[in-house]
Amino acid sequence: MEPSAVDALLCPVCGLEFMEPLPGETALKCIDGHSFDIARQGYVNLLTGNGTKFSQDTADMVAARDAFLDAGHYRPLAEVLAAIVGSALAASAAHSPGTTPLLLDAGTGTGWYLQQVRESIPVQGADTFAAVGLDISKFALRRAARRNPEAANLVWDLWQPLPVEAGRADAVLVVFAPRNASEFARVLRPEGRLVVVTPRPGHLFEIAQEAGMLGIQAEKEANLVESLAGYFALESATPVTIPLLLAPADVRNVALMGPAGHHAAARELAGTLAGLPESTRATAEFTISTFRPR
Ligand SMILES: C[S@@+](CC[C@H](N)C(=O)[O-])C[C@H]1O[C@@H](n2cnc3c(N)ncnc32)[C@H](O)[C@@H]1O
Ligand SMILES: [Zn+2]
Repeated sequence: MEPSAVDALLCPVCGLEFMEPLPGETALKCIDGHSFDIARQGYVNLLTGNGTKFSQDTADMVAARDAFLDAGHYRPLAEVLAAIVGSALAASAAHSPGTTPLLLDAGTGTGWYLQQVRESIPVQGADTFAAVGLDISKFALRRAARRNPEAANLVWDLWQPLPVEAGRADAVLVVFAPRNASEFARVLRPEGRLVVVTPRPGHLFEIAQEAGMLGIQAEKEANLVESLAGYFALESATPVTIPLLLAPADVRNVALMGPAGHHAAARELAGTLAGLPESTRATAEFTISTFRPR
C-alpha cells in the first residue's frame, strides 16, 4: 500500500484521515484510533462491523473470472482501456502539478484490469499513479492485493459513502461493477473522468445458453448515460469488439464467473458443457464510455 493511496482515504467510522502504516504493521489506523486489520494478503476490510446486505462473489466465481482473464481473451479491451484511463489521468493531473495522480477502481474484482492499466501506463504520459481498489468480495481482494500490492485494496460496499476524500481522484474506473454516481462525482476532481466499461447487446450471444446468460438484459448505452445524467455528461463512447475462440474450459469459466455462478449447479453445468466442441467461436462486445462531472 503506497503512502499516496493511503493519503486519499478517510476512516469510515469518524471521517478522519488514516496514518501511514509502518512496514510490517498489521492494522490501518485513523488518527482517532479506529483500527482495521491488514489481511495477510495485504487488503484491508473497512466494512468490519458494518455488515452488508449484498451477496459477495464466491471463491469459485472469483477463481473462474481470474482464470478467464489470465487466459488473455480480454487483453484487447484492457489495452484500449489503459490508453483511455492513462490519458484521463494525465489530463486531470496536469491541473494539480506536484501531486501523484489517483485512480479509483470501483469493483476492482481480482485487480486484473487495474494491473493491465498499471503495466501500460508509463507509455501513456502519466509516469506513475496511486490506486485505490474497492470491492465487496474478500475472495476477489485476496487476489487483487497480490496483483496490485501498491494499491490500497479495500473491502467496501460501493453503495455506501466511499472512504475517499472529496475531489481527490483523477479517474474512477468501473468495469462491470455497480455505479454510485453521486459518490463517484464527489471523489473526482473537477477535471477528473469517470470511465465505465459495459457489455453491448450481443456480448457473447453465441454462448449465452451454455453460459447461463439467457435472459440477462444487456445494458443499452442510453440507459447508462441516463443513470449517470444527474452527475455526469457523456464525453466519448468507444466500442471494442473481440472475436474469441473458446475452449470448453473457457466457456465453463464464463458461466461460473457471471451472475449464473451464484446459483449454477456445477453438475448441471458439467452436463451442458460436456457436449461442447474443442473450440467455440464467440464475440465479446464492449463499450468504454468516458464521462465528465457536471
Ligand atoms: C463482474 S465483477 C467485475 C470485477 C472486475 N472489475 C473485473 O472486470 O474483473 C463485479 C465486481 O463487483 C463487485 N461488487 C458487486 N457489488 C458490489 C458492491 N455493492 N460494492 C462493491 N463491490 C461490489 C463484485 O464483488 C465483483 O468483484
Ligand atoms: Zn476513525
